[in-house]
Amino acid sequence: MNMYDIIYTKREGGALSREEIEYFVKGYTEGSIPDYQASALLMAIFLQKMSKEETFWLTDAMMRSGDLVDLSSVPGVKVDKHSTGGVGDKTTLIAAPLAASCGVPVAKMSGRGLGFTGGTVDKLESIPGFRTAMEPEDFLEQVRRVGMAVIGQTAHIAAADKKIYALRDVTATVENLSLITSSIMSKKLASGSDAIVLDVKCGKGAFMEEPESAAELAQWMVELGTKAGRKTIAAVTDMDQPLGRAVGNSLEVMEAADTLKGCGPADITELSLKLAGLMIFAGGLAGTAEEGERMAVRALESGAGFGKFCEFIGAQGGDSRAASDYSLLPQAEYAREIYAEKDGFIGGVEARRIGLASQHTGAGREKKEDGVDLAAGILLNKKKGDPVKKGELLATFFGNDPEKVKKGAAEGAAAFSISRTRPETEPLIRQVIGAEVL
Ligand code: URA
Repeated sequence: MNMYDIIYTKREGGALSREEIEYFVKGYTEGSIPDYQASALLMAIFLQKMSKEETFWLTDAMMRSGDLVDLSSVPGVKVDKHSTGGVGDKTTLIAAPLAASCGVPVAKMSGRGLGFTGGTVDKLESIPGFRTAMEPEDFLEQVRRVGMAVIGQTAHIAAADKKIYALRDVTATVENLSLITSSIMSKKLASGSDAIVLDVKCGKGAFMEEPESAAELAQWMVELGTKAGRKTIAAVTDMDQPLGRAVGNSLEVMEAADTLKGCGPADITELSLKLAGLMIFAGGLAGTAEEGERMAVRALESGAGFGKFCEFIGAQGGDSRAASDYSLLPQAEYAREIYAEKDGFIGGVEARRIGLASQHTGAGREKKEDGVDLAAGILLNKKKGDPVKKGELLATFFGNDPEKVKKGAAEGAAAFSISRTRPETEPLIRQVIGAEVL
């Protein structure tokens, strides 16, 4: 077997065998296959596509290229939740405690923010004292004792994905169904949960802009997860505009805490309850997704979800008083406001641009090695469809570097459009795939 033949087969539109796919994944991870041959194969896959069967073997090989987490010492059906990436997406901070307070064990590995999307690990690290690195035994012990733990993803999980993703990023081969499916699912399968709830984003702030392509991605991931023996459900949800009103690390922790106290924005509350309901259902604690959602609503209304959030923060070394006293969270030194230039309705708030603006304020990073300003970010005062008067506040930009805040505000202003008539608003949750087969 050699790489030339593998590249040639795919270039000509042929199907790769399980052995050929394993040869590539193993060789590239170990360093015996050079970047130029891996790049050529990725481009051939991008252009000629892979079948579901090839995608399954690619995912399987990538999953086995690193450590496999063993959660068998934790009783119950362990449920993971994953979002394909968004702006203002703090749903893990809300849905996971709601599901955990209903008895679903959540053992989650999360990422850091990169580019215009945020990451749960950065958000949690804005809580004073919170630790996102933990010994595996302590991680398992916390899930058994508290019902949930969230740690940073280690390089040892699906090691091939780290190398392949970095290469896709610089060879324009990211937006491919098989490559995205294998990248996400190899990490999820290696992380060891019995059930996986996926939030597949569509819209201007997502990899898949069209609802049809997001639904196809969701369908592929659900089929693959199911074939791999995990209960898998996917919700296809809107990412045309940011979720909620807060974008940026400590600002999003405040909004998550508000939501768990029952006073969060409507969109973030709706999506978090839906995802928590799916987690409860996938965990076998509710007979239907609707019953799961009703349990999540009760956990929200009774304060059990908020209580679990505080317990979880404390268990990971964080100061849980920060969930009530926001002055304990990082505060920005500078703020800058932007205002509407005319009367009308907010026609749209482009998620990608708000994500970029937040990155400019210092809340996000350009390169993996960069640090972040945990207090930086944006508070949106208007969202799509809201009526607006000339001179009214659209958004406030925060940070500790005045130049960065200014740059963020300039980018953020371009994210808003104002129309004369109220625009049509799309449903936040477009489709749920996979629940019917559980
Ligand atoms: N997230 C991932 O982890 N991988 C992709 O390919 C896309 C989104």
